[in-house]
Amino acid sequence: MKFSTDHFLYGGDYNPEQWLSTPEILEEDIILMKQAHVNAVTLGVFAWSALEPSNDEYHFEWLERIIDRLYENGISVILATPSGARPKWLAQRWPEVLRTDAFRRRALYGGRHNHCYSSPVYRKKTAQIDRLLAQRFGRHPAVILWHVSNEFGGECHCALCQQSFREWLQARYGTISRLNEAWYTLFWSHIYDSFDDVESPSPLGEEHLMGLNLDWKRFVTERTGDFLAHEIHALREGGARQPVTTNFMYDYAGLDYQKLSDLVDIVSWDAYPLWHSAPDARIAAECALQHDRMRSIRKGPFLLMESALSSTNWQPVSRLKRPGLLQAQGLQALAHGSDSILYFQMRQSRGASEKLHSALIGHSGTGDTRVFYEAAQTGLALQQLRELCGTQAPAHAAVFYDTQNRWALEGSEGPRNAGIYYRETVQKCYNALRRLGLNVDVLDQTQPLEGYHIVAAPMLYQLRGDIVERLCEFVERGGSLLCTALTGVTDDSDLCFLGATPYGMTELLGLQRTEVDALYDGESNTLVRQAADTTDFAPVYRCSRLCELIKLSSAKPLLVYGEDFYRGTPAATINQYGRGFAFYLSADAEDSCFNDLLRFIALRAQLPIRFPQGLPEGLELTERIGPQGSYIFLQNFSNASQPVPTLPAAQFFWGTRGPKNVDLLSPFDTAIFKLPASEAFDENNKGVSVL
Ligand code: GAL
Ligand code: ZN
Repeated sequence: MKFSTDHFLYGGDYNPEQWLSTPEILEEDIILMKQAHVNAVTLGVFAWSALEPSNDEYHFEWLERIIDRLYENGISVILATPSGARPKWLAQRWPEVLRTDAFRRRALYGGRHNHCYSSPVYRKKTAQIDRLLAQRFGRHPAVILWHVSNEFGGECHCALCQQSFREWLQARYGTISRLNEAWYTLFWSHIYDSFDDVESPSPLGEEHLMGLNLDWKRFVTERTGDFLAHEIHALREGGARQPVTTNFMYDYAGLDYQKLSDLVDIVSWDAYPLWHSAPDARIAAECALQHDRMRSIRKGPFLLMESALSSTNWQPVSRLKRPGLLQAQGLQALAHGSDSILYFQMRQSRGASEKLHSALIGHSGTGDTRVFYEAAQTGLALQQLRELCGTQAPAHAAVFYDTQNRWALEGSEGPRNAGIYYRETVQKCYNALRRLGLNVDVLDQTQPLEGYHIVAAPMLYQLRGDIVERLCEFVERGGSLLCTALTGVTDDSDLCFLGATPYGMTELLGLQRTEVDALYDGESNTLVRQAADTTDFAPVYRCSRLCELIKLSSAKPLLVYGEDFYRGTPAATINQYGRGFAFYLSADAEDSCFNDLLRFIALRAQLPIRFPQGLPEGLELTERIGPQGSYIFLQNFSNASQPVPTLPAAQFFWGTRGPKNVDLLSPFDTAIFKLPASEAFDENNKGVSVL
């Protein structure tokens, strides 16, 4: 099943169960939500106690009443299953539902998102309530989507989970000796005699066995996925016809989301960047990468399920969103492929931990606030932008940001325990491509490479499956590939490859690694351009943290090290392979080096680049394409006004300030230009510069 909508969803989490004794508030909320152009709310997240106040005693009438009222008022419902937080009676009667931590301590009752996914009782009770909810609301015309649980995450080390981990390992390895080989347990005499001896990683026990750590993380994803599938199954058993989703989190590395993607009908996620904690241009670029990652999971529209209207209460500092940012952040999600802007939350709670979190309707209970006004403006904008709903955001360029590789790199002892900076390196590649005005997909190494012209696969330390063959084939057929330091070091069990590395790629890259130097914080080296007369590169760049030493076979140097005992040896290279080129950057270089190298790569790849000189810092360009044409979003996330570059053949379509003054974008302003389908900027229109 697929979720699709013909209009952008606008609204967010709403907890009417907190206001049942003041029905006038519920009525006022509906009036205010309509004023803000809200058309969808998420109900039922954490509502278990109100739905089942004691074992097997169900009260759905209040929920039905509110769903009906919302429906009468043109507001759809995304209905959550309540399993994100359990009622006290459940934990008291069946303590096995509580999670056990890595120290093997069973939690006391409290908090949320902290249950055991293996517990038969938890599974039984969630299935029971989910089934009943589905029976009651599975065909309700207001309910358009199921929201399973909330922000799945964390892990449980209880005896039940240990047992299923052992069974999972048995299925994966077959014999214990295969497990011993894969985990290299002869080292420090850690050989297992039987699967029954295996314990999940623990600070009290085994922490250093990377094979165990990786398999445990894979198992946690599998367990979580199994629990998600279990809930979906219960909804279907209850007769629910609507599509399902579950909300993913910002840059969350505890789960391999790619593995959960087939279970849901649409990807949705919660975006809470730390706006204003650093230059907003930087925060916006980081958030853009996360949006693109979510879109790339299923290569299609996703939903922004939660975001904050203004401040959050849980970040270190509850900074207000500056005027205009509420709309800019929402439209950024849209630009990157979201078919919704949803918030946490519609009405601010009176008590408990989130009483000071921003909301559409605050404690004052009025719409006469800055936040409400900006939210209403944004709701109106979504109505005006309706024809963009469901359009795609296809990309010619891709960057790998691979969760399992992240586990391995960040968990590896050496070469740099003081910080390996994987995410930052991915971000540098991503920013460099986006500066050129390109849409970028953010992929896992298991995803298909067809259709891309450029793939940047930074720090691809762990190689799984047939990735080497696929990368070789990609370049052979004419693609351009960028690899960087620490490529091709270990296999999926974190065993180092024997022989020349980057493993399997020495011919592709035309080089091999000889040594890896890690630099202390504060130390640096330089990268010097090889051809003195070129304008492709600056004379010199700074690099730090990681400097690999490489020996070239067929590759040609573009940059060489400027200092240290490896001064003059290659650091950035190009190698022709089949019809394409493979590039290598062996050091952790500064941003401008990534920018120049990826521009050099993109120009050689003859990609349609709108801005070969690079967009100004903080100005984002993103494109959605549909049957009626292409929509180019320009957004200013810098703190200064930015001139709008001319886009030939494009017509003004929408702007924060209407059609006036669109040649200058103020901070947080957006302008959207439309190119008719016939003029769409594509491969046949290569290399045009419009600046
Ligand atoms: C999310 C969570 C919501 C709410 C929100 C506050 O992570 O899913 O329930 O707590 O944070 O920002
Ligand atoms: Zn457990």
